Amino acid sequence: MVAEVSEVNLKPFRLVKFFSFTSLAVILISTLVLSWVISNYTKDVLLERSEAYAQVFAENLNHQVFQQFVLPTVLRYGAIALRYPRQFERLDAIVRNITHGMNIESVSIYDSKENVISYSTVSQRVGKRDAGGDEYRRALQGENNSVMISDSSLLNLLPGSEPISCKLITYVPFRQERALSQSTDVIMGVIEVEQVLSADLLAIIRLQGIIIVTSVLIMGSLFIVLQFIVARADRIIEARAAERHRLEKKLHHAERLASLGKMITSVSHEIKNPLGIVKSTAEILEKRLIRVAPGNEHLATIVIEETGRLDNIVREFLDFARPLEPKKDLLLVNKGLIKAIRFMAPEFEKYKVRVDMDLDEALDPVPLDENLIYRVYLNILVNGVQAMPDGGRLLVRTARDGDNAVIVEFSDDGIGISEEKLQQIFIPFYTDKSRGTGLGLAIVKNIIDSHGGEMQVESREGAGTTFRLILPGA
Ligand SMILES: Nc1ncnc2c1ncn2[C@@H]1O[C@H](COP(=O)(O)OP(=O)(O)OP(=O)(O)O)[C@@H](O)[C@H]1O
Ligand SMILES: [Mg+2]
Repeated sequence: MVAEVSEVNLKPFRLVKFFSFTSLAVILISTLVLSWVISNYTKDVLLERSEAYAQVFAENLNHQVFQQFVLPTVLRYGAIALRYPRQFERLDAIVRNITHGMNIESVSIYDSKENVISYSTVSQRVGKRDAGGDEYRRALQGENNSVMISDSSLLNLLPGSEPISCKLITYVPFRQERALSQSTDVIMGVIEVEQVLSADLLAIIRLQGIIIVTSVLIMGSLFIVLQFIVARADRIIEARAAERHRLEKKLHHAERLASLGKMITSVSHEIKNPLGIVKSTAEILEKRLIRVAPGNEHLATIVIEETGRLDNIVREFLDFARPLEPKKDLLLVNKGLIKAIRFMAPEFEKYKVRVDMDLDEALDPVPLDENLIYRVYLNILVNGVQAMPDGGRLLVRTARDGDNAVIVEFSDDGIGISEEKLQQIFIPFYTDKSRGTGLGLAIVKNIIDSHGGEMQVESREGAGTTFRLILPGA
C-alpha cells in the first residue's frame, strides 16, 4: 500500500528529474552549437574585413608601384628587369614604404607569364616557382580572391598546446594604368598580400571558450539548485506517503475496534441481565441454605463471588467498547497517583512489592478526566505487581516535559516483555494470564489517546518494564 501511494506521488518528481537531466543535456548541446555559430560568424566577418583591407591595400600598392616604379623604369631603361639590383632595390624601397605601418606581413609580386615570384618582401621567396595555386590563376583572369590558412581549435586554449596560427593570403591582379591613374584590363602580374590573423583568431576562440565555460557554469549551478529542489520534494512526498500510511493504518484499526466494540456491547448487554438474576438468586439461595442445609452455604458464596467477577469482566468489556468522552479538569498528576498507590497498598504488601516515588512537586495541573486517569494508573500498577510474583521494586516518577506537558513513569523490575510480545500488548484481548481479559492496556491506550497524550514502553525480558505516559498540558 505504501509503495503504491509513494510511487503514484513520486511519479511527477521522477518527471522533474528526467526533465532536469534532459534540459541540462539540451542546453549544453545548444551552448556548443551557439558558440560554434557565433565564432564562425565572427570569423567570417574578420575574414571579409581583412580581405577588403588587403584589396584596398593591393590597389594602392598597384597604383604607387605603377606610378613610382613601372613608368619611370620603362622610361629610363626601356623594360622592367628585376634581376638588376638597382631596379629591384627601387621597387623594394617603394613597396616597403607603402607597407610601413600597415598590418601586412609580406607582399609578393608574381609574373604574369609564368607562375614565378618576381619580387617579395621576404627575400627567400624571390624566384620561387609554382608558389601561387588556383588563386594566382584566378587573379590572372582579373578576379580578386583570398585563401585562409589556419590551424586552430578550442584545444589550442589548453596550456602547453601549440599556439594558434592563421594567415590570410589575398591575390589581386597587378594592372597597368592609363594616364589619370585609371586602371586598364592589361594584367602585368599578381600581387599577393599576406596578413597574419593569429591574434584575432585567438580572441575569437577565447570568446568561444568563454561562452562555453560560462554556460556550463550557469547550467551547472541551475542543475544543482534543481537537484536540491527535487531531492527536497522527494523527501516531503515520502514523508507524506508515510504519514498517509500511518493514518490509514490507524483508521483500519479504529474501524476494527468499532465493529468489535459493537459486538462486545450487545453480547455484554445480553449477559449482564441474566448475570444479575443469577447473582441475586444465589444470594437468596445462600440465605435458604443456611437454614435448610447448614454447612453448604459456601457453595452459594462461590456462585456469588464468581458472578461478581464475571460482572466485573462484563463491565470492563462495556467500558472498553463505549466511546470515550473524557470530562477534563485541571488536576495535579501526583495527587491521583498517590491515591491509586494507597488503594493498591494491600496488594503491594501481599506480593512484597516495594514502591518508590520520585514525584516532581512543582508540576502544573494538567487537563485530565479524574476517573479515567485513575483507571490508567490502576491498570499499570496491577500489571506491574503481576509482573513481579516474587516481589520486587516499583518506581513511580513524575517530571515536566517541555513547556507544560507531564511525564508519568512506572518502572518495575519484573519478568519484562519480549520484543515480539511488545508489538501486541495494546491489542484488545491479548493476554498471557490465565485470569486476564487482555483489555487492561487497550483501555489504558484508549484513555491516553482521548487525552491527546502519548504512551511509550521500554522493556527487557527478565530485567523489567517501564511504561511512560506523556500528558499534554493546558
Ligand atoms: N509490567 C509488565 N510486565 C510484564 N508484562 C506486562 C506488563 N504489563 C503488561 N504486560 C503484558 O501485557 C499483556 C497485556 O496486558 P493487559 O493489561 O492489557 O492485559 P492483562 O493484564 O493480561 O489482563 P487484564 O485485562 O486483566 O489487565 C499482559 O498479559 C502481559 O503479558
Ligand atoms: Mg492488566
